[in-house]
Order: sequence, then structure tokens, then C-alpha cells
Amino acid sequence: MSELDELLAQALSAVAQSADEQALESLRVHYLGRKGLFTAHLKKLGALPAEQRPAAGKSVNLAKQRLHDAINSRREALQKQSLEARLRAERIDVSLPGRRRATGGLHPVTITIERITAIFALAGYEVAEGPEIEDEYHNFEALNIPANHPARAMHDTFYVEPGTVLRTHTSPVQVRVMEQSEPPFRMICPGRVYRCDSDLTHTPMFHQVEGLLVDDSVTMAAMKGTIVSFLRNFFEQEVKVRFRPSYFPFTEPSAEVDMSCVSCGGVGCRICSGTGWLEVMGCGMVHPRVLEMSGVDPGRYTGFAFGLGVERLAMLRYRVGDLRMFFANDARFLEQFQ
Ligand code: DAH
Repeated sequence: MSELDELLAQALSAVAQSADEQALESLRVHYLGRKGLFTAHLKKLGALPAEQRPAAGKSVNLAKQRLHDAINSRREALQKQSLEARLRAERIDVSLPGRRRATGGLHPVTITIERITAIFALAGYEVAEGPEIEDEYHNFEALNIPANHPARAMHDTFYVEPGTVLRTHTSPVQVRVMEQSEPPFRMICPGRVYRCDSDLTHTPMFHQVEGLLVDDSVTMAAMKGTIVSFLRNFFEQEVKVRFRPSYFPFTEPSAEVDMSCVSCGGVGCRICSGTGWLEVMGCGMVHPRVLEMSGVDPGRYTGFAFGLGVERLAMLRYRVGDLRMFFANDARFLEQFQ
């Protein structure tokens, strides 16, 4: 009997020390398997006198049962331990911030065009577009700029083929609008324009917005009011505006529009070259010849037109010091407009 106790004690301590389920399973086979030590012990009972056998058999079975229970609870403990270790290893901190997907944004030139069209939309202006590859007739002749007219030299034109150009301004869209329907016209035309010119303040492609209003008895006062309130809306400041007499072949009279400098308020600084004024657009009353050539009766209708550079307005509004930033596609610059 003491041999059985010893065997059990030895088995229990081995079970308690087993490191994993595999080791535990080997112990089970070693002690309780068909060829195990306890089975061997049972077989020895046959050598005992008959009256001792039942009690001895019962002791062996009890010992086996205890060992069996110990193995099961050890197995459960090991399983629990390894589950906990796995949970600890695979732990996810759900409170960590997620990975954000970078989103794009609109280009500052697009933002500026949208801002300009939104302001004019409030005054009932519609948006019109025309082709960037334009014929010389619409780009020049119909705007009262005949061949050999000195104004053509101001335009540094890219020719696609004889008679066809990359439009040098958005003014040809005025003509196309007037050709296509009847007054009244109230339209603005944003778009790309091209000039063979490249230096610190000029790029071969840039953007303009053209405006046209033709109706019964449109006056120059209406033009001035429209432009002043546009500029104050656009810059969200009570800027001062002055109209300086100028010359464009397609308007008569013509003016250039100056606005008090948004940077210094008119005292004079680097941005306005010390003058206090910024030149922001050209405008004028549509020339009767231009109306006539596009099929609008100049005896009945009058109108005004204006043209402005989008990059120029964007530079002033967003205080961008270098025109080339708009075309470099540097994400660090563009991200600031999101
Ligand atoms: N087309 C002119 C340019 O590109 C800008 C301009 C001036 C447009 C006066 C107009 C205008 O409609 O009336 O320089």
C-alpha cells in the first residue's frame, strides 16, 4: 500500500509540475494508460490473498481516480494559461486613433473661380464657356482687332495653324454668346487662356474671367457699381476703387480698374510698388462695332464687359507671393487651401 501511495505522490507532483498539455498527456499515458504504472499495479493484486483483494482494488481505483482528477484540473489550468497568454499577445487597443485616408482638395485657382462665379450668380449672371482652341475671327476680328492692328502685338499669340490660335483671352466667349441668342445677356465666362510669355509674373497658361451685360439702356454707372460691389464682396473689405481711362479695341470708353492695396490699405508697400493701388481688371462699354458684328443692334442695346486675371486675384486674396506656386503642384502649398 505504501508503494501505491508513493506512486500516487510521485504522479501528482509530476502533474503539478507539467509545463504544457503535451507533457501532461505523456504523464497520463505513463501512469494511467493501458501499459501504465497504475495498470501494472492492478495486475499485481492477483498475488494477494482473496480477502484482501477487494479493499486493495478499491484503493488502487481511488488513487487512479485522484490522479485522473488532478490531470483534468491541471489541463484546465494549462488551457486557461495559454488562452490568457494568447489574449495578451493579440490584444488590440481599440482606443488608438484610426489611420486617416488623405483627402484631396480644390486647387486655389478653382476655388477662386468658384468664388467669383458665386458672387456674380447672386446678381443673375450665368456661366458660359467657349473653346480654348479658337479661330482668329472670334479671338481678334469680332473683337474689333483686325489683322495688323497694333493690339495684336500685345497678345503674344500661340498659333495652332494659320487662322487658329490658343485663345489669348476669354473675350471671344462674349462674341459666341451674343452670336447664339438675343439680348439681354448677363454672363460670365471663366477659363484658361494662353500667351507666349514666361517670366516671374507671367505663365504661358493662366485663367481669366470675362463678364458681359447687354440690355436696354445699360450705363457706365451700372458697370462701375457692379465692379465695385464685386471687389468688395470678393475681398470682404471696403476697398477703394478707381477707374482709370484706358484703351481696349472692343470697348469704348475703356477703363482699367485699380483697387486700394489689400496689403497696406493704400499707404504704399512692396505689393503695390509703393503706389497704394493695385491694378485688378479691364472693363468698358461694349464697342458698337462688336455688338453689330455679333448680330446685336447697337441702336437699341448697350452693354458693358470686363476681364480679370484669376491668378492675380487669388494671389491678392490669399497673399501668395509667387505666381509659379499655382503651377508647381507642391502638395505643401495646395494643402493649405483645403
Ligand atoms: N481681354 C482683355 C485682356 O485679356 C481683358 C479685358 C479688358 C476684357 C476689357 C474685357 C474688357 O471684357 O472690357 O487683357
